[in-house]
Amino acid sequence: MDIIQNTKEFFDERVANYWKDPFGLKEHVILVENQIKKVLQKNIWANELVCILSCRLHDIWHYPVLEWEDHAIIWEKISREFLSKQWLDDNIINQVAHCVRSHRCKDVIPETLEAKILAFCDSASHMQDSMYIEIAKDWRIDYAMGKLQRDYRDLDMFPELKKDYENLYLAWKKLLEEYKDFLDKKSD
Ligand SMILES: [Fe+2]
Repeated sequence: MDIIQNTKEFFDERVANYWKDPFGLKEHVILVENQIKKVLQKNIWANELVCILSCRLHDIWHYPVLEWEDHAIIWEKISREFLSKQWLDDNIINQVAHCVRSHRCKDVIPETLEAKILAFCDSASHMQDSMYIEIAKDWRIDYAMGKLQRDYRDLDMFPELKKDYENLYLAWKKLLEEYKDFLDKKSD
């Protein structure tokens, strides 16, 4: 069994242990990985192993969500512990850990090419599933709109690729504006 397969099983096991997948993480990871493969085909010469491992580990412990904890710090710690048992080179472990730690583009910003690819693909993949509308339906329309803006901002990391997502971004923006309008009228 190889390291990629081990990582997939590790992730699947953690989700299964929570007995449900309310954030649709299993699908999300597939979407992010598909995005990464598309980016790597565009003459962007990054370390594919680092990109794929960090994709599989970047949301490793969403459940249960503890609001007072910074998820990325915990995910980095879990990733390091897991990878150190896989006979991987420390250099690869450190690279993956940086990708996991920085992918939210908050307190730690992606510095390496691989970390930028993960952050880009994570944000881009949100536009390909139902995340914004699910947040909005949970009465958090302003958060959903802010999240869309932050995701679109993260695409600045690869301006030449960002243009491929412009129509998708504009469609989501319009949809969320319409939905906000509906909610505002409903609560009048
Ligand atoms: Fe993610």
